[in-house]
Amino acid sequence: MKENARLEPLEPWQAEEFAAHLDRAREHIRPWVGASFVADGLEGARATLRRYADSQAADGGRIFGIRLDGVLVGGVLFVDVDAARGTCEVGCWLEPSAVGHGLVTPACAALLDWAFTTRGLHRAEWRCRADNTRSSAVAQRLGMVREGVLREHWPYEGKRYDKEIWAILARDWPARTA
Ligand SMILES: CC(C)(COP(=O)(O)OP(=O)(O)OC[C@H]1O[C@@H](n2cnc3c(N)ncnc32)[C@H](O)[C@@H]1OP(=O)(O)O)[C@@H](O)C(=O)NCCC(=O)NCCS
Repeated sequence: MKENARLEPLEPWQAEEFAAHLDRAREHIRPWVGASFVADGLEGARATLRRYADSQAADGGRIFGIRLDGVLVGGVLFVDVDAARGTCEVGCWLEPSAVGHGLVTPACAALLDWAFTTRGLHRAEWRCRADNTRSSAVAQRLGMVREGVLREHWPYEGKRYDKEIWAILARDWPARTA
């Protein structure tokens, strides 16, 4: 990570700060993330953070904030962790001012390192709209392989978009980090 950037847990007590960040990020991320993630207002932000806190307590998904000079500018998350299957899905977002600074790829790499090295998972996935080239570029930089396309799987504002699935296996992670 850049030296003025930090990756930290994002928890329900930070709902006010998360809501203010979402106000800066919402329209930028809305086409590319799940609808439940762009919930409005303080209660919506709190509900999202509670959902991930509950999920983390059940060894499932978890969410982390990226701070630049102390300001919450985005984050990365385990959308899901399925320890029994040894799989997880990783995702990310940034507010517009934070795009193009190399923040998200190292943050996702930290999550993958935890998933493979600490948690002993076998497979990490990445799902994005096929026309989300900035997102698929992150998957590629992480060493993921594009495994397939779910055709017209992503409805958004009256149109349907293809969705890509990228993934990396634990055995390929050491090569990525070497
Ligand atoms: C997806 C998203 C998080 C990617 O952000 P990003 O800034 O492109 O990705 P990274 O943080 O890895 O940064 C890489 C970019 O920073 C640039 N960069 C600048 N300084 C850098 C540095 N020190 N090190 C590495 N890269 C650096 C890279 O050149 C690259 O930009 P480029 O593609 O224009 O060449 C962002 O576009 C976004 O928030 N999109 C909307 C939400 C979304 O799509 N989420 C994903 C849903 S699947």
